[in-house]
Amino acid sequence: MVNNTQQFQDIISHCKEYGFIFPSSEIYDGLAAVYDYGQMGAQLKKNLRDAWWKFMTQLQENNIVGIDAAIFMHPTTWKASGHVDNFSDPMIDNKDSKKRYRVDHLLEAHADTLSETEGKLLLEEMDNLLLNNNYEGLKKLIEKNKIVCAVSKTCNWTEIRQFNLMFSTKIGSVADDADLIYLRPETAQGIFVNFLNVQKTGRMKIPFGIAQTGKAFRNEIVARQFIFRMREFEQMEMQFFIKPGTQMEWYAYWKAERKKWLEELGIPAEKLRYHNHVKLAHYADAAVDIEFEFPFGWKELEGIHSRTDYDLKQHQEFSRKKIQYFDNDLGPDGKPIGNYTPYVVETSIGLDRLFLTVISLAYREEKWTKEDGTEDSRVVMKIPAALAPVKLAVLPLLKKDGLPELARELLKVCKPHFHCFYEEKDAIGKRYRRMDAIGTPFCVTIDHQTKEDNTVTIRYRDDMRQERIPMSAVKDKILQLIS
Ligand code: GAP
Repeated sequence: MVNNTQQFQDIISHCKEYGFIFPSSEIYDGLAAVYDYGQMGAQLKKNLRDAWWKFMTQLQENNIVGIDAAIFMHPTTWKASGHVDNFSDPMIDNKDSKKRYRVDHLLEAHADTLSETEGKLLLEEMDNLLLNNNYEGLKKLIEKNKIVCAVSKTCNWTEIRQFNLMFSTKIGSVADDADLIYLRPETAQGIFVNFLNVQKTGRMKIPFGIAQTGKAFRNEIVARQFIFRMREFEQMEMQFFIKPGTQMEWYAYWKAERKKWLEELGIPAEKLRYHNHVKLAHYADAAVDIEFEFPFGWKELEGIHSRTDYDLKQHQEFSRKKIQYFDNDLGPDGKPIGNYTPYVVETSIGLDRLFLTVISLAYREEKWTKEDGTEDSRVVMKIPAALAPVKLAVLPLLKKDGLPELARELLKVCKPHFHCFYEEKDAIGKRYRRMDAIGTPFCVTIDHQTKEDNTVTIRYRDDMRQERIPMSAVKDKILQLIS
């Protein structure tokens, strides 16, 4: 199986060195599976979120609107949704280290160390056992494969048990009066409980969708693989409300549409694949993952789920409020179809996983021989120009002779339209390398010729090509290249 560990470690170090991602509260030695996005990372993350939001709410032919629901929700929400009773995973503890592992993560990590065929067979066996809730069989599978705890290095395991993944806290100022509430483990429920609010105030007609982006929290037991599996992460979800009976049609539609979007974002088709769920979540009648080939192997990037009418019906029952849609369309008998509980097809992608996808593809270490026979190299982040945190670096060749003033004139023209970076320190080659490392697709150098004929040198990150263009053409050229 693909397991490019060194490259992955290099990406993690690069993210820290250039202000993309830092371990959370690092001065206190960090907090497992929690990360902070730095100055470059926050901008790249925002660009990805904006791209998703634009595609889902602005560019769709179908009616999709966006909301921003609170993280805290009434605790009954999670009883109704099934998360209190069902949002748990089979876990196993190592008796020597007392460390707890999610059984599927333990087996998946072991599969990654095997050959492709052996790994596949192991995962198939695991899927079958999970499907039948056969915990005894799963434990035997762990023992048969001699899977050891990463800390104690022993195979001394407890029985397998279920543990809930939701974080809980108390709300209210007086501890005695406090009520137990949960940090949402998915953003979707904020959409379901607002179904009627949005449908009525927006006069939405089925089929229509509600989208939102926001933080979600899960007490993931195995915290590894950098931002792939975090305890606090961000989801971008859309619930598409449809007529019962049409769910397979819309499921196929969104499955294709979401993969197409990922490809349009610059992810090569051969790095994406579908993986049908064998064991369905408690709310789904069909589910598929879009997997990406991360440096540590094929893993889930996005999920498309046919969630039936489970959630709306559950909220109707627990809230004792009618949550239905009146369909004016005429049925086969020529009369309005009338009231029904809509079915739902959901698309759900982790923003942090999308971030990891983009940077895994962008990171390159390049080496070449120069014309004079000497070797040269660079680390470059080939982030698609439209997503790059900084689009243009404006670099006066020298700190004198009126060059900084000309550079600032250009900055003033460009800044309202896209993110620019200004730097006058160090040799130009060094400045280009720094821009390569953060993925800036275009650099413009102002030199003495600029003073004579108002032209500048534009340097392209990907092939390091340089050309001379009028300074007055820079803004429109960059706008065209990042559109
Ligand atoms: N509302 C459906 C739902 O939450 P999910 O498959 O559990 O479904 C959807 O999660 C997406 O959220 C995943 O495809 C993944 O991209 C992201 N995700 C889930 N758990 C995550 C975690 N611990 N860290 C980072 N991203 C996560």
